Amino acid sequence: MSQLNLPSAYHLVSLDTVDNTNAEARRRAVEGEETTPDGTLIVAKEQTEGRGRRGRTWHSPPGNLYFSLVLRPEIPTARAAEFSFIASLAMHDALGTVGDPGHQVHCKWPNDILLNDHKVAGLLLETETMQSGLPDWIILGIGLNVAVFPGDTEFPATSLRTEGWAATEGDILESFCRHFLKWTNAWLEDGFAPIRKNWLWRCYGKGEEIEVRLENETLNGIFEDIDEGGVLLLKTGDGMRHISAGDVFFPSLMTEEDAS
Ligand code: BTN
Repeated sequence: MSQLNLPSAYHLVSLDTVDNTNAEARRRAVEGEETTPDGTLIVAKEQTEGRGRRGRTWHSPPGNLYFSLVLRPEIPTARAAEFSFIASLAMHDALGTVGDPGHQVHCKWPNDILLNDHKVAGLLLETETMQSGLPDWIILGIGLNVAVFPGDTEFPATSLRTEGWAATEGDILESFCRHFLKWTNAWLEDGFAPIRKNWLWRCYGKGEEIEVRLENETLNGIFEDIDEGGVLLLKTGDGMRHISAGDVFFPSLMTEEDAS
């Protein structure tokens, strides 16, 4: 992976093994901008303590892609989540570029990628805000199941190999980095609007019945839209709910066993 052909905006740190690339990115980010500038990209062949959203474990054996990007944009912390949509678009486009035709790739709210209706990638975005109210850094961690996937997840998973794809971790990371720059530039020029619109074109389930599992309740309703900040708008029998964090499931894809 150290032979990657990346645009000059990225500063690659390639590791064999690490607890997790988000933690390594944070350890380096606190050292400051000189040693860890915007665009620092930590990649590892395996993680011993891979972390997913909402405190979950991210299954991280060798063979899959694990990386974290350190970003230092001058935006209010409240807008940091826009980067998870930029990254989802970049991963969607990367898979479209290196993948085989005849497969379905979708973005799933808030920040997963589905391949043939199964989760193939997830994003974990973390920020640290200093006194200025601007994030000192944003860490964008992405895991992509290339060779293997866990069989015991709430939302069914898959891997590129399982779906018959031959693309390597390096192919995908190079493509992701190019697409991420492209979408970041669109965002710098025109804000979140083009990101939102393009994400909506690529997402799964808009206009359909969905189930959203929150910390303490489960909601059912129609996936109406996402707002200008990426918040999910769910039309329920009790009115519109604005959801900023949760796990989405699609009854149309669920078996009776999943639903119980
Ligand atoms: C999720 O879907 O729950 C998010 C998964 C994020 C996994 C990536 S792999 C690289 C980085 N290191 C981690 O431990 N997590 C993120």
